[in-house]
Amino acid sequence: MYPIVKKERLAPEVLLLEVEAPQIARKAKAGQFMILRVDDPGERIPLTLADWDAERGTITLIFQEVGVSTTKLGMLNEGEAILDCVGPLGHASEIGEYGTVVCIGGGVGIAPIYPIARAQREAGNRVVSIMGARTKNLLFWEDKLRTVSDEVLVTTDDGSYQRKGFVTDVLKLLLDEGEHVDIAYAIGPVVMMRAVSHLTMEYGIHTVVSLNPIMMDGTGMCGACRVTVDGETKFACVDGPEFDGHKVDFVGLMKRQQMYLGQEKEAMERMTGLRIGDCRLRNTK
Ligand code: NAD
Ligand code: FES
Repeated sequence: MYPIVKKERLAPEVLLLEVEAPQIARKAKAGQFMILRVDDPGERIPLTLADWDAERGTITLIFQEVGVSTTKLGMLNEGEAILDCVGPLGHASEIGEYGTVVCIGGGVGIAPIYPIARAQREAGNRVVSIMGARTKNLLFWEDKLRTVSDEVLVTTDDGSYQRKGFVTDVLKLLLDEGEHVDIAYAIGPVVMMRAVSHLTMEYGIHTVVSLNPIMMDGTGMCGACRVTVDGETKFACVDGPEFDGHKVDFVGLMKRQQMYLGQEKEAMERMTGLRIGDCRLRNTK
């Protein structure tokens, strides 16, 4: 069992859990993820690590309550425990001396972009972070991101805070103003990662995205997380989760993500006794 030592609501749809998982905390690196099960029988939930503390033996998980499993996870309180936690999984981000690194986090993707920005800054890079949310009260960790970035640019879709628009709008502005970018990292909804990748391709900037397909075993055995990259089938859990954004088949990824929406909706309706719209159900990682 993995005890929850801290629970914090960061935004109406977003929860933070700090969990005692010393073996994961000791080995974790930026870009890696873990898989948890709240109870038995329970769905496996893949979550990219938002932070960790090797000394305290804790990991920080940030997630949206969007389906049955994440809603159950959100019902756990400090002092209670998660049944299983496995990780760290996947390849770590490639940290190098690039020059200027742009780290783009959209929505809940702000959480996993943080350790990447930190690692790239520690490696001596200039880090420009761009964070975006639909509206002001969905933003979180701006201060934390500032501690590991040379510059932080914030957008809200509705203009309720800082710049109005998508993260891609401010990225384009930055590039058109002549900012030299050596590499870009983007984590957020698939449409955002696709839009960032399309934009950076025009400017010839190598772009890394962290993919979030459905996952089961997390060991490369079940094939649930398959994605097409550069025309080849890859398993995000063992070959990724990070891939070259210019080579990812985002359309195929989006189709696979929708595959179980019907079942998710039914399960959610069974649990809550309410009729709900498909739009509330999205992938969580
Ligand atoms: P959201 O729909 O609120 O979007 C967040 C931001 O992304 C927006 O504010 C905007 O700036 C940008 N964006 C959205 N659509 C865009 C478009 N068409 N073009 C350009 N930019 C666009 O995000 P959310 O509801 O917080 O969802 C977060 C998503 O991030 C989830 O779908 C989740 O699966 C994913 N995620 C992935 C990982 C990972 O490791 N891959 C980690 C955390 C979250
Ligand atoms: Fe099973 Fe990746 S989750 S192969």
